[in-house]
Amino acid sequence: MAHKFDPSHLNRLENPDRYRAMPPEKILRELGLGPGMIFVDVGAGSGFFSLPAAELVGPEGTVYALDLVPEMLEHLRSKRPPPWLQTLPSEESRLPLPDGIADFTLACFVLHETEAPVAFLKEMGRVTKPGAPVVLIDWAKMRQDDGPPYEHRIHHHRAEELALEAGLRFRKAEMITPSHYALTVLRPSAGGEG
Ligand SMILES: C[S@@+](CC[C@H](N)C(=O)[O-])C[C@H]1O[C@@H](n2cnc3c(N)ncnc32)[C@H](O)[C@@H]1O
Repeated sequence: MAHKFDPSHLNRLENPDRYRAMPPEKILRELGLGPGMIFVDVGAGSGFFSLPAAELVGPEGTVYALDLVPEMLEHLRSKRPPPWLQTLPSEESRLPLPDGIADFTLACFVLHETEAPVAFLKEMGRVTKPGAPVVLIDWAKMRQDDGPPYEHRIHHHRAEELALEAGLRFRKAEMITPSHYALTVLRPSAGGEG
């Protein structure tokens, strides 16, 4: 069984050091999020990315913040997000959204917690528009005092293999901090081009 994030450690997600090391608005902007877009944040947690995403997409856009754990979503709602941010309870490999809705789909620190990574990635692809990005931010496969244990971490090459198995197409992989990668894959467009 995959190791899940303990909601009683929610403050770790909101640590000011994390905001400094991994500024969410800057990262999202550099990954291409902008006004009017529909953004899906799978495993949104306390809203580390969903809240700045709502600022970036603005009232013409929509943010769907999804999580397995209701208390994470309650915590996010307690921050009074704008009305174009919706919180939705999610299942392990099933997202409560229609096909092809998202301009940008993100899972940050979630892939290494999933029970069935390929099924999870297929769902991320399903809700994404053809040709649009699915971004996986996760911990580099290295030994560190903070973050998940080494054994639970997924190397970015392995994440890429899993994404290809799920029918997604490689776009780019980059280190966004010394300890974290962002892997961008695309839902292939109807004509087969990324
Ligand atoms: C380590 S937290 C990261 C939260 C947030 N993405 C961030 O970067 O701050 C992982 C979150 O993913 C959620 N989660 C784990 N597996 C999930 C799944 N299969 N579908 C949706 N959410 C999931 C957990 O409940 C938890 O809130």
